[in-house]
Amino acid sequence: MFDCIVVGDVMMDVVLKSERGVLNALEIDGTNYFRSARVAPGGSGNIAAALSHLGGKAAFIGKAGQDPFGTAYLRDLESLSIAAGVEFDESASTGFVISLVEPDGHRTMLVSRGANDNLGQQEVKANLQKLGPAKFVYLSGYSLLNLPQREAVLEAGRIGRGNGSGVVFDPGSANLVKDHPDVFEGAIDSCDVLCANVAESKVLANGLSVSEYARSLSRKGKKVIVKAGAQGCLVSTEGELSTLPGVSANALDTTGAGDAFLGGLLYCLSLDYDLTKSASFANWFASRKVEGLGPRHFPRREDAVAFLKSIRLERGLEREETRV
Ligand SMILES: Nc1ncnc2c1ncn2[C@@H]1O[C@H](COP(=O)(O)OP(=O)(O)OP(=O)(O)O)[C@@H](O)[C@H]1O
Ligand SMILES: [Mg+2]
Repeated sequence: MFDCIVVGDVMMDVVLKSERGVLNALEIDGTNYFRSARVAPGGSGNIAAALSHLGGKAAFIGKAGQDPFGTAYLRDLESLSIAAGVEFDESASTGFVISLVEPDGHRTMLVSRGANDNLGQQEVKANLQKLGPAKFVYLSGYSLLNLPQREAVLEAGRIGRGNGSGVVFDPGSANLVKDHPDVFEGAIDSCDVLCANVAESKVLANGLSVSEYARSLSRKGKKVIVKAGAQGCLVSTEGELSTLPGVSANALDTTGAGDAFLGGLLYCLSLDYDLTKSASFANWFASRKVEGLGPRHFPRREDAVAFLKSIRLERGLEREETRV
């Protein structure tokens, strides 16, 4: 059985570092040169990569273009022992994100969603059937932007639930929540674990405080996590709320912090750790990610096991030691 099937976006990250402020560096005509470049797989695969890195059993469903980026994305999943349900689209290119990074770390993103938007319900159904059961199905809010992908992803949640998987949802961006309030409310209603950041939670709370909002959802039986960057996170279950302070980090690049957090969280939840302990681990795991460049700068497994021991995870520790 899989620990988690991630249903989300296939994105290649193209990171270009600029010598100057991006707008100053760009000329409308002609060629613009950047100091350095890095092309690497990103998107929702980051979560599956984090889970697999920790020793969890991960799968990924998404849609790429029939092009070299799509092939590279698939090869990367395979090299990380992630079971891949990647569909290929002849009519669109693989999604990519161009990040223009200025010397002070400020980022401007240029996104082409490409083939992602064309993921269909039948494709998701067939892949879920092929992959078989999972403890969790993860859905990305970024994948709810356009049809038919939106319906395909929501269908994955329904099927997962029907098969007894816990449905984990990350809204992804406060702007998406603002622009599609009904879609996001529906997705949250039908999830079991909500993992949102503070900005997203503020929009969702719709006038309530973030803590009250988290509590109110948790009273309905959901597990709620609110990620708060360097401040750590809030967790709420059964109407109880606790704050987990941030783990001090020498932050170099916060790209993918939220994905690393989810990978760590899913790893612990799939080992049956309770929400607070799972979030403590996720908080630590994500804090180590931000100390390195790129979305997949993960701490070593040995260090992860040592951290799990240090927070005295009473249940499942033996399983933990045999798995990692
Ligand atoms: N500067 C930091 N120092 C320590 N930990 C951090 C820092 N930034 C982020 N984290 C860790 O990463 C987690 C997720 O970060 P954040 O709250 O920014 O989520 P997010 O907005 O979903 O991230 P993303 O931008 O990747 O989508 C935090 O809850 C925390 O555990
Ligand atoms: Mg996020």
